[in-house]
Amino acid sequence: PAASSASPSSAAMRRDAPFLRACRREPASVTPIWLMRQAGRYMPEYRAVRNKVGFLELCKRPELACQVTVEAAEILGVDAAILFADILLILEPLGFDLEFAKGEGPVIHNPIRCPEDLQRVRPLSDHQPLDYVTKAVKLIRDTLPPRLPLIGFAGAPFTLACYAIEGGGSRNFETAKSFMRTHPEAWRTLLDRLADATAIYLNAQVAAGADALQLFDSWVGSLSPSDYVESVQPAMRRLFASLDATVPRIHFGTDTAMLLTHQRDAGGEVIGLDHRVPLDWGWERLGDQVAVQGNLDPTCLFAPIPEIRRQADRILAEAGGRPGHIFNLGHGILPGTPVDHVKALVDYVHERTSR
Ligand code: CP3
Repeated sequence: PAASSASPSSAAMRRDAPFLRACRREPASVTPIWLMRQAGRYMPEYRAVRNKVGFLELCKRPELACQVTVEAAEILGVDAAILFADILLILEPLGFDLEFAKGEGPVIHNPIRCPEDLQRVRPLSDHQPLDYVTKAVKLIRDTLPPRLPLIGFAGAPFTLACYAIEGGGSRNFETAKSFMRTHPEAWRTLLDRLADATAIYLNAQVAAGADALQLFDSWVGSLSPSDYVESVQPAMRRLFASLDATVPRIHFGTDTAMLLTHQRDAGGEVIGLDHRVPLDWGWERLGDQVAVQGNLDPTCLFAPIPEIRRQADRILAEAGGRPGHIFNLGHGILPGTPVDHVKALVDYVHERTSR
């Protein structure tokens, strides 16, 4: 892997940041917390930027992506920033026609529906078509306080394939899962191509200054354990094997109670748990060779602050003060979440765990 563009001394300054220590399962001065979708529509500062530019344009303008990333981390006082981008951006250079339609979420106008369609899935070439993302990473790294780690991310092959085949969001993924069962060879080829492109993309984020990586396999919980092991885990192993392992990798999914050990076996130093599993039960299943991230129900943030604190206490008790817990939600912050409740959660976790 290429050397980081950020100076080594600056990376050294972050080595002992609570978030990176927890990723390595080392004791930290505080239980670190950051929140998935911490930059988003619930935040007025984000909406002000979005009033002026479309979502894709925001992702493609490094100075704006940098602004919303850094602003969100500062406002909340979290222990890590996450690159502002989207898991679907990688589909464009692979040959997909991606649009974020107003009020409808993502649309892919040329989804894959038969094995022949795979011919138009291009490999990610070295003439960096996603260089607006690496530019954003560099800019964010140069703008953030030197002690604050930056998380880069990408979508995992299964979750990306769901969008590439369904052509957008889906409740049951019947089109994608039918493709998987009807054309197992083509499915494997598609997932391998997505894995290879994703490895190039994520390694470029590390080279540009990302201190950790998260893979979002958001919809993987729709699979049975046997389908996961047979049809998805091989591509995940391939992906993790190609990733720069000098930075911690967070492997996240939702609804994964029955998949946790299989996800762990595929790779990642940190496993994301959603709110459907008790954190202690999940960590017990995973064993003590991985760190865990999670897992407050995002809807708890709509509750009164004392109730948010009570739920946070319960999760901290489940973690039992063991090194290697990164506090987060079970899934992303929802639009409409009160910002002061999010801040109250961050402050409370810090207050309760500072040692
Ligand atoms: O966490 C962060 O703050 C970093 C930014 C980030 C976004 N999307 C910004 C975004 C991250 C990490 C993502 C990941 C992502 N994108 C996932 C995986 C995470 C998850 O929630 O499971 C998925 C499935 C997507 C695909 C996607 N992007 C959908 C389905 C939508 C539309 C639904 C929605 O919430 O609007 C998006 C749009 C999107 N990505 C927004 C943001 C802030 C909202 C766009 C807007 O400003 O209107």
